[in-house]
Amino acid sequence: MILISHSPEETRKIARELAPKLKPGTILGLKGDLGSGKTTFVQGLAEGLGISKKYYVNSPTFTLLNEYEGEVPLYHFDLYRLESPNELKNLGWEEYWEGKGISVIEWPERLPAEEQKRISLITFTTVSETTRSLELFFKND
Ligand SMILES: Nc1ncnc2c1ncn2[C@@H]1O[C@H](COP(=O)(O)OP(=O)(O)O)[C@@H](O)[C@H]1O
Ligand SMILES: [Mg+2]
Repeated sequence: MILISHSPEETRKIARELAPKLKPGTILGLKGDLGSGKTTFVQGLAEGLGISKKYYVNSPTFTLLNEYEGEVPLYHFDLYRLESPNELKNLGWEEYWEGKGISVIEWPERLPAEEQKRISLITFTTVSETTRSLELFFKND
């Protein structure tokens, strides 16, 4: 399925409406260039999961992971600066992925190939200054 967003608010709305439909344990990879809207989408997911407004969702630039507590917790990975798969191991990512939270991963291309194959994906494309296309591909487990 391909969706078109015409503003950051629309991208957040798409995510907000998707959030309650995600099963606990869902792992969602967000692909796309810098500025294509991945983090904006995660902000909408947090809203949709009812995560407290006291958390401001931004890119975890210097950390690989930000955790947001909620009834369904949100684990926000940004692997842009991942140097090696070992770094991910040290983070204990498997525990997060096997938990009841929703995991979102910016730059899933950095994951080992076999992990990439088992996760759902959204590919963000910058169409114009304010237009983004979102191609959704859900793994049905
Ligand atoms: N339709 C849109 N959806 C999402 N972001 C948009 C859109 N139009 C413009 N933008 C802008 O693009 C940038 C997206 O940034 P961000 O979400 O951090 O991207 P990424 O995490 O993919 O690097 C923001 O500055 C946002 O305001
Ligand atoms: Mg980002």
